[in-house]
Amino acid sequence: MDKQRGTPKQIAKRYEDKVESRNQRTPYRRALFWLSLFAVLGSAAAIYYAGERAPGEFFNTGPLSRHHSSLENDCASCHQAEPLEAGRFMQVVNDRFRHGAPSIARIDHACQACHTQHAFHEPNVVENRSCSACHTEHQGPGPMPAVTNVDCASCHNDAAIMQASAQRGKQVPPSHFRLNPKVVNLTNPQQNVLQLARPADGYTATFASFSEGHPPFQLQRENVREADVLRFNHQLHMGGRGIPPTRAGGKLDCNYCHKPEPTGRYMQRVTFEANCQECHSLQFDVKNPDFQIPHGDAQLVRTFLRTLPAQYGELARRKRGITDESRVNAFTAQQITGLLTQFSTADQLERTVFFTKDPYSTAAQQDSPTRAKYAGCAYCHEVKQTSVGSFPMPQITAPVVIDRWLARGHFNHAKHATVDCRTCHAAESSSLTSDVLMPTKESCVSCHSPAGVAANASECMTCHTYHAPDPRPAGAATAAAGSFKQMLLSPAR
Ligand code: HEC
Ligand code: HEC
Ligand code: HEC
Ligand code: HEC
Ligand code: HEC
Ligand code: HEC
Ligand code: HEC
Ligand code: HEC
Ligand code: HEC
Ligand code: HEC
Repeated sequence: MDKQRGTPKQIAKRYEDKVESRNQRTPYRRALFWLSLFAVLGSAAAIYYAGERAPGEFFNTGPLSRHHSSLENDCASCHQAEPLEAGRFMQVVNDRFRHGAPSIARIDHACQACHTQHAFHEPNVVENRSCSACHTEHQGPGPMPAVTNVDCASCHNDAAIMQASAQRGKQVPPSHFRLNPKVVNLTNPQQNVLQLARPADGYTATFASFSEGHPPFQLQRENVREADVLRFNHQLHMGGRGIPPTRAGGKLDCNYCHKPEPTGRYMQRVTFEANCQECHSLQFDVKNPDFQIPHGDAQLVRTFLRTLPAQYGELARRKRGITDESRVNAFTAQQITGLLTQFSTADQLERTVFFTKDPYSTAAQQDSPTRAKYAGCAYCHEVKQTSVGSFPMPQITAPVVIDRWLARGHFNHAKHATVDCRTCHAAESSSLTSDVLMPTKESCVSCHSPAGVAANASECMTCHTYHAPDPRPAGAATAAAGSFKQMLLSPAR
């Protein structure tokens, strides 16, 4: 038996003593009791004091942002006073237990009292976010902190949310999905925007950042081809073989045809007059190379060709300096005869101008730059025949030059002015108009990734917007009541 532990009786006695000593009121125990009581009551009093009497700064977590600095003395514009009358206490506790803290929802409604037109961005969103999830106040007197990838990824990288949105999207009428008017000016009828059909599941791929997981652009994913029927071969024109130097001197380069808009963001449209005419001047009479068909409306061209004697008369007076009318007539007759050695009839001339793809390809004495000047309409255009009586009426399919290709994202050429066009557009290897020369997502990632030169411009915000003007009647969003948690859990209204 162990000496130190003693007999079982002795052990039992020792434990009894210990238990008894617990119930003894020593001065130390008394002090501890009063201290605890004081701490509890003191805290309650502090809460009461702070809630009722403390100056605003007491609780202020930090100065308001620059944007809201004018509200420094008007805390109530965002924070509603919340009087806690007797009897409502349990009600409030219950409500918070069930629905979570209500203050954010209140603040959100306050935000929307001043900021209308901030609809949550897609009609199939199943879980909205609080304004303060993305725009945090009280972070210091500068601008509010920028919205980050994480704010967007809270939905875009949540498979459950995005799948639910994909399902919900199938119930929403397609017309409710629109391009964001902040990204594309849809009210400009002059602007041709490439609008691809929304995929069956919508744009609900799951990913966290641009460099990782962001889907390839839809037009490459779906291998879109351009529908424009205007013939243009970048490879041939950029290759230089047989292409003469431009009038300004130098080789034909991208910026001869593609000039930035005044803002520098996007490129202006290519036009015949500014970008083709210098080399393709629509000559047709080899004997009078400066005599040109007007470009454009087929009817006008036809009228021009049917009044050739009068047109030659004009040429004589304007360009040949012939004033004597009988000499003008002689000149005209001579040219018409000359023309008939090139085209057997006026009818054939007209057909050649409108319908022959390369009218002068057989003229051996012409080198390719010269021949290119003698282009008929069908050299560049799709020309259809709509027979009217005996003569086929030419119908030119008007080119549709697209102005906005990636309409769900922003782009700015000016910010990439130091980058060679060819880095992004594989134009030099394209021989068909139907080739789409838009850059791939990978080509952007080479710079727009944490390791790239544009590491600081790799957030979703760099290329996208979030809000769209509210498609619902004004005020509908503000009227929506409910707590923050309700707002998160209930489907968007
Ligand atoms: C533009 C709206 C706005 C104004 C004006 C404003 N606040 Fe806030 N305040 C907020 C938001 C948003 C929060 C963040 C709530 C959160 O994220 O938990 C917040 C949080 C707080 C908090 C922290 C309490 C909590 O619930 O987390 C205090 C305290 C506070 N504000 C005090 C003030 C005072 C004092 C003023 C007046 C000087 C003021 N606020 C003005 C928007 C505002
Ligand atoms: C009393 C009206 C009022 C309330 C309430 C209010 N704001 Fe503002 N807010 C403004 C005004 C005015 C500006 C514009 C200031 C400026 O142009 O710099 C602004 C600017 C902003 C901006 C920056 C705009 C920009 O150009 O970058 C954001 C973001 C913003 N508010 C979000 C909020 C959020 C979130 C809330 C709620 C927590 C809120 N606001 C509450 C009046 C208000
Ligand atoms: C509340 C959830 C939610 C948040 C937060 C969210 N998104 Fe979305 N977003 C969606 C859903 C759902 C779709 C799918 C729309 C569809 O199917 O057409 C979508 C689609 C998009 C699209 C493609 C559709 C289009 O028309 O442009 C872009 C771009 C986009 N979001 C950008 C952003 C950015 C940038 C942020 C962060 C500022 C963000 N989203 C935050 C839910 C969200
Ligand atoms: C002689 C004029 C001319 C030159 C020079 C030229 N282009 Fe084009 N480009 C056009 C025409 C015409 C179109 C519209 C027809 C088409 O889509 O192919 C076009 C369209 C484009 C498009 C958008 C259409 C698409 O299919 O994606 C891009 C991008 C483009 N060019 C880039 C370039 C680059 C880069 C260069 C220089 C390497 C260049 N172009 C040189 C005339 C020119
Ligand atoms: C710097 C002079 C120059 C400019 C500017 C120019 N071209 Fe050409 N283009 C040529 C030459 C030269 C040829 C003939 C090449 C050959 O036959 O080998 C040609 C050939 C063509 C062809 C026929 C080649 C083929 O694909 O079979 C078309 C179509 C054409 N150009 C369209 C255009 C259009 C449209 C523009 C304006 C957007 C334009 N070109 C601007 C010089 C030019
Ligand atoms: C060298 C190529 C080329 C030839 C040849 C050519 N065009 Fe065009 N045409 C273009 C280009 C490029 C455009 C689009 C840009 C523009 O409107 O200037 C165009 C546009 C047009 C349009 C549409 C204008 C509009 O406002 O929508 C018509 C109509 C037209 N051409 C008729 C003709 C006729 C008729 C001929 C023959 C006499 C002809 N073209 C010869 C290159 C050519
Ligand atoms: C960093 C990549 C990049 C570089 C460099 C670049 N582009 Fe682009 N370009 C784009 C993107 C992205 C678009 C699609 C913009 C849109 O329409 O949504 C585009 C569109 C275009 C278009 C179609 C019209 C338009 O503005 O949308 C033309 C033409 C074009 N680029 C020509 C050029 C030329 C010429 C250069 C060189 C001076 C050049 N690009 C340099 C990325 C680039
Ligand atoms: C060679 C590197 C490079 C490539 C490739 C590149 N970018 Fe950029 N991009 C930059 C840099 C650097 C900036 C920041 C410019 C600044 O600081 O103002 C930028 C800025 C931007 C901006 C912000 C423009 C603004 O208005 O502030 C957008 C949008 C953008 N890039 C989109 C794209 C897209 C889309 C692609 C692919 C088609 C692309 N970039 C490819 C280097 C690149
Ligand atoms: C460097 C520019 C850039 C950045 C950064 C970027 N995107 Fe995009 N995003 C684009 C472009 C360009 C498209 C294609 C637009 C189109 O097809 O009209 C696109 C397409 C999308 C789409 C449609 C996807 C689909 O299925 O076609 C969604 C959703 C989207 N982006 C969300 C985001 C989110 C969320 C982030 C941040 C995590 C982000 N993007 C970052 C440029 C960018
Ligand atoms: C998922 C993140 C997110 C949420 C949630 C969000 N915003 Fe924004 N907000 C943005 C982004 C990103 C911008 C930048 C411009 C844009 O995308 O339209 C912005 C811009 C703004 C701007 C200034 C730009 C302008 O003129 O439109 C205001 C004001 C604003 N938001 C208010 C609100 C209000 C009010 C709410 C709540 C109803 C809210 N935001 C909810 C991301 C968000």
